[in-house]
Amino acid sequence: MYRKVLPFLVAVLAAAQQPRSDEPGNPVAGDPGAIESGRKTYVGSCAGCHGATGEGGRGPNLRDGRLIRRSSDAQMFRTIQKGIAGTEMPGTNLPDTRIWELVAFVRGLGSPAAFVMHPGDAAKGAEVFAKNGCGACHSIGGQGGTLGPDLSTIGGLRSYEYLREAIVKPGDRVAAGFQKIVAKTKDGRVIEGVVKNYSNYEVQMVDRTGKLYLFRTPELADVKIAVETWMPQDYGKRIGRDEMTDLLAYLSRLSSRPVKLGGGR
Ligand code: HEC
Ligand code: HEC
Repeated sequence: MYRKVLPFLVAVLAAAQQPRSDEPGNPVAGDPGAIESGRKTYVGSCAGCHGATGEGGRGPNLRDGRLIRRSSDAQMFRTIQKGIAGTEMPGTNLPDTRIWELVAFVRGLGSPAAFVMHPGDAAKGAEVFAKNGCGACHSIGGQGGTLGPDLSTIGGLRSYEYLREAIVKPGDRVAAGFQKIVAKTKDGRVIEGVVKNYSNYEVQMVDRTGKLYLFRTPELADVKIAVETWMPQDYGKRIGRDEMTDLLAYLSRLSSRPVKLGGGR
């Protein structure tokens, strides 16, 4: 029995040592320093067409997992180096290492933050979170406010760049169910919060303390719903660069299942 299985196993193990094809893999895949360096190049050379979080613009969306998965690291390298003839996608004369850093960074755009290695100290990030009052509006593991989305598993849901943008440029996209509302009742109360649901007949909202209200429209003297966020606008200035890195490391690790960090796939 062993005689048959063993040579087979050895063959499988040998095959596993080989790269999947003869193409080079990304030498810096999953390296946090390289990804950060790729981010800087991306912001300067690519974000103008592909968007700060890869959401797209003049160029296609680079967050779309299907689009990114269908090309190997080597193919993406070539696309970035040579550009795509007959389209607006330009080539570049950046050195190879800088291009590999870009490949590592672009892969991360389409992955939840928890699945990619990132720099920073998550424990210090938790302090930054507390110090800046994030918990007044966001809860983590059942602790905290309700005006903003629950962040308990945010690292498993959103990409790293999405998280950064959400903090630095809040309100660019306001999460569904978290639009700002101010309602005045006919009996003179003013209630502020986020709107969960509304129609011509009724308004469902939650206030700062998490209390849920259901009004029929005839009870209201006035109601203002805005595509705006309660999230403070000045965190980009208030939170220093290193603190932001730590905060993002903390949020990235909030995920429903433990993640083993490996390469940048
Ligand atoms: C002037 C606008 C522009 C700039 C700058 C630009 N791109 Fe593009 N990019 C495009 C367009 C347009 C396409 C789609 C081309 C096509 O039709 O196939 C594209 C395609 C791509 C693709 C292939 C997506 C796919 O379909 O597989 C990648 C990857 C990519 N760009 C990465 C980058 C990176 C990284 C940079 C910065 C070094 C960059 N691009 C700079 C416009 C741009
Ligand atoms: C005054 C309330 C408030 C405070 C304080 C606050 N947020 Fe928010 N936050 C919100 C609201 C409301 C939203 C949802 C609307 C939106 O997308 O902007 C939100 C959205 C977010 C999102 C995006 C969630 C998603 O799934 O789209 C992240 C991440 C986030 N906040 C992180 C933070 C961090 C980190 C801090 C502290 C540095 C913070 N927030 C402080 C109210 C707040």
